[in-house]
Amino acid sequence: MQGITIKNILEKKGKEPITCLTAYSKPMAEIIDKYCDIILVGDSVGMVLYGMKTTREVKIETMILHGKAVKNSAKRSFVVFDMPYKTYSNKFIAYKNVKKVMKSTKCDAVKLEGGRKIVNIIKYLTKKGIPVMGHIGLLPQSSKVFKLKGKNLIQKKQILQDAMALSNSGVFAIVIECVVESLAKKITDSVSVPTIGIGASKYCDGQILVTDDMIGLSNFRPRFVKKYSNVKKIIEKSVKNYCSDIKRRKFPSSQNVYRF
Ligand code: KIV
Repeated sequence: MQGITIKNILEKKGKEPITCLTAYSKPMAEIIDKYCDIILVGDSVGMVLYGMKTTREVKIETMILHGKAVKNSAKRSFVVFDMPYKTYSNKFIAYKNVKKVMKSTKCDAVKLEGGRKIVNIIKYLTKKGIPVMGHIGLLPQSSKVFKLKGKNLIQKKQILQDAMALSNSGVFAIVIECVVESLAKKITDSVSVPTIGIGASKYCDGQILVTDDMIGLSNFRPRFVKKYSNVKKIIEKSVKNYCSDIKRRKFPSSQNVYRF
């Protein structure tokens, strides 16, 4: 099957919305692969699956395991690996870690959080042929609180400058997280690469959500998350019925045993 390429993603800017979700495992990747253009192996895995307080605790070895599982299961979608905290502190550390990630997971690209501060690192990676996705606005690896960005003129200007710097550094797309609508629109109209919004309005070229939030498996419920199902309720009901069946000796039934 022909997989989605960077060329396909770039061509969608301003024409067709780009669909993205996160995945950390084989079963989730297999489902998402059927529909989404991009799958992000997000470092949100730390908080979502491992119950960590921040994404800063996530180790590269953990991410590599999830990256391998997702990439092996995705036949169509473009798979992006989220570089964890402190794995790209300077260009040399970044290149060493990115090479390790690409070699062991075979993911299609990496994502780095930050604007102008990390532009020299991104330029170094893209010049070496590494496909990089940027991430601006709210930066979970460096911000202690979950807060809307771009509410005042200074912040707006800074985030726009970050976007322009990233766009000129060779990234193929930019995630914009939790910013006011007018800023997301301005950025999307100003940069040459697609913008992927999370809490950043319909004006972005694409949208991403953390899958577990979108299907109602996590407890994270900011305004920008639309809950498409309540998987937590479905699982809870199944577990409850299973336990009840065991207690009433209804499971295993004759259909679930081996008789010779
Ligand atoms: O780690 C993650 O899931 C992300 C998305 C929120 C964009 O970076």
